Amino acid sequence: MSEVYRFGVSLDKALIDAFDRHTASQRYTSRSEAIRDLIREELTRKQWTEGGAVAGAIVMTYDHHKRELANLLLDIQHDFQETIISTQHVHLDHHHCLEIIAVKGEAEEVEKLATTLKVQVGVKHLSLSISSSAE
Ligand code: NI
Repeated sequence: MSEVYRFGVSLDKALIDAFDRHTASQRYTSRSEAIRDLIREELTRKQWTEGGAVAGAIVMTYDHHKRELANLLLDIQHDFQETIISTQHVHLDHHHCLEIIAVKGEAEEVEKLATTLKVQVGVKHLSLSISSSAE
């Protein structure tokens, strides 16, 4: 068996509470096992998308009252117009917007777009789902 490494992670209480509920609903026996699965899933997904053409969707929610955020997200999307096929915008409630961005292109560009959007302050959640190869 490989060596076990322990490390600490700082999280908001609300986030860890939500994660614990998720962990319980998925019948994990421990938080560690749930985190191990998340890490494996992310590494596998990244490996799968390394190089080559992909197609998929970016789904994100954000607070559109955050100063200049909506314009910033639009500017970023304009910089990736060759990767973005279409965008659907839904006004979730008074504060929050949901965007579904259909993408097609080189995995590296799709990842770059997703990462650039994800790190903006006010983006609450972003997931990238690769559904198939674009080739
Ligand atoms: Ni909106």
